[in-house]
Amino acid sequence: MCGIIAYAGHRPAAPVLMEGLRRLEYRGYDSAGIALAQMKNINCFKAPGKLAALEDKLSAAPMPPLAGSGIGHTRWATHGVPNETNAHPHLSNNRRFALVHNGIIENYRELKERLTGLGYAFYSDTDTEVLVNLIEEERKNAPDNLTAFCNALLQAEGAFALALLCLDEPEAIYAARQNAPLVVGLGQGENFIASDLTAFLAYTRTVIFLEEGEIARISPRDCALADLRTLAPKDYAAQHIEWDVQSAQKGGYKHFMLKEIFEQPAVLRGALAGRINPDAGTLRLPELEGLSRPVRLRIVACGTSYNAGLWAAPLLEQWGGIPCAVEIASEFRYRKPILGRDELVILISQSGETADTLAALKVAAGNPCPTLGLCNVMGSSLARGAELVIYTQAGPEISVASTKALCSQMALLTLLALHWGSEGGLVPPERLKGLLADFAGLADILEKSLPSIAMEVKPLAERAANARNIFFLGRGQNFALAQEGALKLKELSYVHAEAYAAGEMKHGPIALIAPDFLTIALAPPDGHEAKIFSNIQEVAARGGPIIMLGRPDKNARFGREVALWSIPSCPEGFTGFVLLPMLQLLSYEAASYLGKDVDQPRNLAKSVTVE
Ligand code: G6P
Repeated sequence: MCGIIAYAGHRPAAPVLMEGLRRLEYRGYDSAGIALAQMKNINCFKAPGKLAALEDKLSAAPMPPLAGSGIGHTRWATHGVPNETNAHPHLSNNRRFALVHNGIIENYRELKERLTGLGYAFYSDTDTEVLVNLIEEERKNAPDNLTAFCNALLQAEGAFALALLCLDEPEAIYAARQNAPLVVGLGQGENFIASDLTAFLAYTRTVIFLEEGEIARISPRDCALADLRTLAPKDYAAQHIEWDVQSAQKGGYKHFMLKEIFEQPAVLRGALAGRINPDAGTLRLPELEGLSRPVRLRIVACGTSYNAGLWAAPLLEQWGGIPCAVEIASEFRYRKPILGRDELVILISQSGETADTLAALKVAAGNPCPTLGLCNVMGSSLARGAELVIYTQAGPEISVASTKALCSQMALLTLLALHWGSEGGLVPPERLKGLLADFAGLADILEKSLPSIAMEVKPLAERAANARNIFFLGRGQNFALAQEGALKLKELSYVHAEAYAAGEMKHGPIALIAPDFLTIALAPPDGHEAKIFSNIQEVAARGGPIIMLGRPDKNARFGREVALWSIPSCPEGFTGFVLLPMLQLLSYEAASYLGKDVDQPRNLAKSVTVE
């Protein structure tokens, strides 16, 4: 959680830092601050609440235009309530060091006690304030700031991505990473450090992804890396990033979420481009080269990425012919799973930085099984830690609630199922050709249907927004989508929603059905519809109102409790790709109707880098 940005360069630092924080706000938004080295002082500006509060504060402050270096932070509280004192940056007692931090210092209490004994005073409840004072203390005996920084960090246990400003080197910024992401951006006469490259994408696309245990020192002219433990200088290879700055902007849409939902046709095209040739009926996944056909699959992920795994498991079994289990990363990491050499562990993560998923990767890596990371962010910890990587190439996803990333994950998992299915002979060449042609046509179908879905959803979303409780029901793969529908609605509109496998209703949940309890049933024509129609009738018979996502069926007779929301027709096996944006738009519109903050729902963060 939390976003950090640092700048050293020829421009006034404050506007660059603020722009970076705006792009990082999705990582946390309960308070924000910046620190600038100005006129022989480190000046800190902090404010609780959204970034606008900090902007107001800065506009009221006299700002010398030439402050070339500074650090900034947008916070998602872990230690201490979100107020101005707990907001970052934190200054050391002598005000010669300012620090921003993403992560948790687990042994901060012991360190704080020691420093208190040495006479240090603490004003906030944060672990970060402890660390910055430890740097001040270490500096007393260290020859330079770099050594003091490293000596302090070697005493800190836990996770950190840090940026440090030192008064006696006002042009430079020091940074370090351990179990939290950090990227350096290399510009002309200016350099950047941030939690996520979108923070400085407007200035440079040349980046260095810091490795675990690396420290960086940037100044306007140069960048040097060193090993945190030995202080030995390290070489680096900068990479060029394809993402452009437009893709990280709203582009005329009211919210990032809406833009990202509407980007899904392009996301589908991007996921398939270069991987399938529908005319020839061929499919290539070069990322899997050298991997022998797994005997079992284990998918591990969190949140929406977990739902991608749930959705794909039946396909991987049915088309791919490989048994597949799906697990929540925060549970998996504390079990002692038995993972054989012939089992492939697939870790799915949009950000590639989710702490639980990375811990699950570590657990898997301690076994003889190979690991495959399916992730969106290039150079992320998952991408670098897994043996094999497939990038989902959805482009930057800014809205906290994940949408297009899921679409891209579903697309890649479908390709995996087809790849293994064709390799194992379960999907013969002619069938593969047909399925690939259907898959290739899906983006056009989606593109045409999205505007009408967006129109039709509004009255239904109002019903959902006004409901106190909602069940999302589905069977098979649609149960996974029901879970995603309920998750989206909860996180965006704060309406209580739960998903059930439709057949489970009769084992308890149906007791809750009453005229004020809304049910949203996913009933596409996929072979399960007769069964789910019966479940819908059971709810209707108890007076429960229902919104049914399905196709008009002349054989099914529903009472007035059931409102049909027609699913645009699309090839068999691919309905999920159309149901998904329907559910996304339902929660988007419900949250908009209720006046909620769609892109930054309360209490959430996009990238959860703590346990
Ligand atoms: C957070 C986000 C979710 C996301 C989950 C997993 O909870 O708010 O939208 O699905 O993390 O994130 P990942 O980056 O691992 O896919």
